[in-house]
Amino acid sequence: MEAPAKQTLTKLLHQINRLSIDEALSLLSGSFPGKVTFSSSFSLEDQVIMHRIVHNNIPISIFTLDTGRLFAETYSVWNSTNIRYQTPIKAYYPDHAKLESFILENGPNSFYESVDNRKTCCAIRKVAPLKRALAGNAVWITGLRAEHSAARQDLQPLEWDEANHIIKYHPLLHWTTAETKAYIDEHHIPYNPLYDRGFVSIGCAPCTRAIKAGEDFRAGRWWWEDNSGKECGLHENRI
Ligand code: ADX
Ligand code: SF4
Repeated sequence: MEAPAKQTLTKLLHQINRLSIDEALSLLSGSFPGKVTFSSSFSLEDQVIMHRIVHNNIPISIFTLDTGRLFAETYSVWNSTNIRYQTPIKAYYPDHAKLESFILENGPNSFYESVDNRKTCCAIRKVAPLKRALAGNAVWITGLRAEHSAARQDLQPLEWDEANHIIKYHPLLHWTTAETKAYIDEHHIPYNPLYDRGFVSIGCAPCTRAIKAGEDFRAGRWWWEDNSGKECGLHENRI
């Protein structure tokens, strides 16, 4: 979509800041009918948002990016989520021709060999499908939280995403990990069992490990790379 005028976005942000999450989601879906979409990786945060959307019957489409390299546990929680909420979750897949030639040339695990290979794998498996999922939408709801990383602390709950030409809304931006987990427990929401095994941020299986006490929240993502290059391109410069 066309970038909204700065005042329009600021006004919307002020409005949103005064509303509950449910009210904000309803305001956005009413303001941009049929053009609000939510991306779920079935993280704790995403499961809370899923619950709010479905429980309140808010007309927001839901999608996931199936990279083909997710944990078995992630597919299980996806399945439990389908059973619990009985709502369509559209999965987007990588372009088969691009993936086939990348794997033919580089093998299945080339992301460990160079940052370039890793970024190409993320571009094929995540970023290109994301662009397809966002096409035609005006608002993208995510589960980003400020606690995730230093870069995410600078986020506003509502912002313009220049890379994808879309308004992003992060309803749980200022929730803590404890609050998020407490909400999941209180509402008996299905969640990824890896969280009970030291995982705090979960992406693809070969690129995610549990963290040790005292380690950074995102230390388990692409752990073999130094911090400077660690982003996958879904949330530009927002690791
Ligand atoms: S990432 O950029 O490092 O991969 P992260 O795992 O922190 O992102 O997740 C932040 C948000 O990005 C999630 O709450 C979700 O909205 C979106 N997201 C991440 N991975 C996926 C995925 N595989 N499918 C759909 N949305 C995703
Ligand atoms: Fe590929 Fe790893 Fe990126 Fe997943 S996180 S798309 S497996 S490089």
